[in-house]
Amino acid sequence: MDRFHRLHAGRQRGPRYVEQPAAPRRPGPGVRRGHSLATGDDDEIEYRFRAADGSYRWFLGQARPWRDAQGAPHHLVWHVHRHPRPEAGSRATAKLLRRPRSQGDVPQPGAGAPSAGFAAAGCQVTAARRRPYRAPYSSALPMKAITIRQAGGPDVLQLGDAPTPRPAAGQVLVRVQAAGVNRPDVLLRQGKYAGSGDVAGTVPGLEIAGVVVACGPGAPRWQPGDAVCALLASGGYAEYAVVDARHCLPVPAGLSPVEAAALPETVFTVWHNVFQRGALQPGETLLVHGGSSGIGTTAIQLAHALGSRVATTAGSAAKCAACRELGADWAINYKTEDFEEVLKGAGVDVVLDMVGGDYIAKNLRLLNDDGRLVFINAMQGAAGAFNALELMQRRLTITGSTLRPRSADFKAVLATAVEQHVWPLVAAGKLRPLIHQTFPLAEAAAAHRLLESSAHIGKIVLEVGK
Ligand SMILES: NC(=O)c1ccc[n+]([C@@H]2O[C@H](COP(=O)([O-])OP(=O)(O)OC[C@H]3O[C@@H](n4cnc5c(N)ncnc54)[C@H](OP(=O)(O)O)[C@@H]3O)[C@@H](O)[C@H]2O)c1
Repeated sequence: MDRFHRLHAGRQRGPRYVEQPAAPRRPGPGVRRGHSLATGDDDEIEYRFRAADGSYRWFLGQARPWRDAQGAPHHLVWHVHRHPRPEAGSRATAKLLRRPRSQGDVPQPGAGAPSAGFAAAGCQVTAARRRPYRAPYSSALPMKAITIRQAGGPDVLQLGDAPTPRPAAGQVLVRVQAAGVNRPDVLLRQGKYAGSGDVAGTVPGLEIAGVVVACGPGAPRWQPGDAVCALLASGGYAEYAVVDARHCLPVPAGLSPVEAAALPETVFTVWHNVFQRGALQPGETLLVHGGSSGIGTTAIQLAHALGSRVATTAGSAAKCAACRELGADWAINYKTEDFEEVLKGAGVDVVLDMVGGDYIAKNLRLLNDDGRLVFINAMQGAAGAFNALELMQRRLTITGSTLRPRSADFKAVLATAVEQHVWPLVAAGKLRPLIHQTFPLAEAAAAHRLLESSAHIGKIVLEVGK
């Protein structure tokens, strides 16, 4: 028997334990050498195991408090998951008191023998390290989430307890590390998002990045421990979110959770509206309004990377400078210049418009024959006149879409297209989300205030578990 198993052999016959309620975070001491790892309540622990064939594998566990029959406090580890990304440099062996369990299981008191599963598999704990505190996962425990108290201003966003969701068939449960904040979240909060109905009690959030902690049946692509970013219809402003497994994409190498969380909503929207509906081709010219928005910064980079010329409008010199740096060939401060005057003769093939109002007529006048005008919003007014004869003579197309209400199947097909066409550009460094500022989850209202001020350039992201 090796030292690790000798140390814990007694625990296999140990006293029945009593589950304690999850305690608030208490900073535990760091990893130290030896066979036991001092932990705080709910610390996540990564364990490295040496398998019988000599290979190493990483697992993810969680330290939970318990007391033995004498009332002495202990920590034990449960929820040991496969961890797909081995890393070097661990420093200590682990105090592992229970065998690995299937994903998402909550262990029953007294069940299972300490580390028996690993021993039987010929595995040996060789290293462990604490990870920063994360909220515990148990479908029996509530999670922290931001809910909309009632339709209104930013202060209706309140942090509270919500039931931890369970993944249904075809879904995965993701422990959220970061959640992107988008203009549609503001519209939802205000009760103005078309078709959203009564928003009281809704958890907003259309995009997240995090780690898969449990998979429902029929979600074969993902396993607990996988780092993903995902598109949601709602529910991202929370410690855990269930997502259609087909709407998850792997976090591109080199991107932080904050950067990864800033991708799905804008990339899905831009890919569909500019490249599918608008059918922008290399060599053509795109005009994107709101160039410094999350959508705008993504559209500029993507169109530039795929060989189009890009014109954009934005509301300040600093915003225009940022747009130029991202690849815009024209960046027009619409507060000091008329974009139609500047672009007259430039020949625009596709316009991505979120402004509407008096931009509509200008956009149409700027379009080349066969040009496409694509709406994703109409912040200055949805109604506008057009000349049907001119439309026919110049073969113009007016179209648009909203992503959130589209079917799960549509979003799944779109996710596949995004992974095929956009992810390689992210990997090549040609698309990188521009992060303006991050906020802790609890400060979602402040994040919304900043978004509504329009002082930002790029994306605003909530960090969860910080
Ligand atoms: N259809 C869809 O599926 C879909 C999906 C996602 C987003 N969207 C829409 O796309 C737009 C961008 O979204 P986002 O999350 O990237 O937004 P965002 O980062 O908040 O940026 C919006 C930008 O639009 C400009 N703006 C704000 N209010 C305006 C107004 N009343 N008139 C003209 N310009 C205004 C501001 O820039 P300036 O200082 O330059 O004016 C602001 O920075 C939003 O309108 C959003 O609703 C649509």
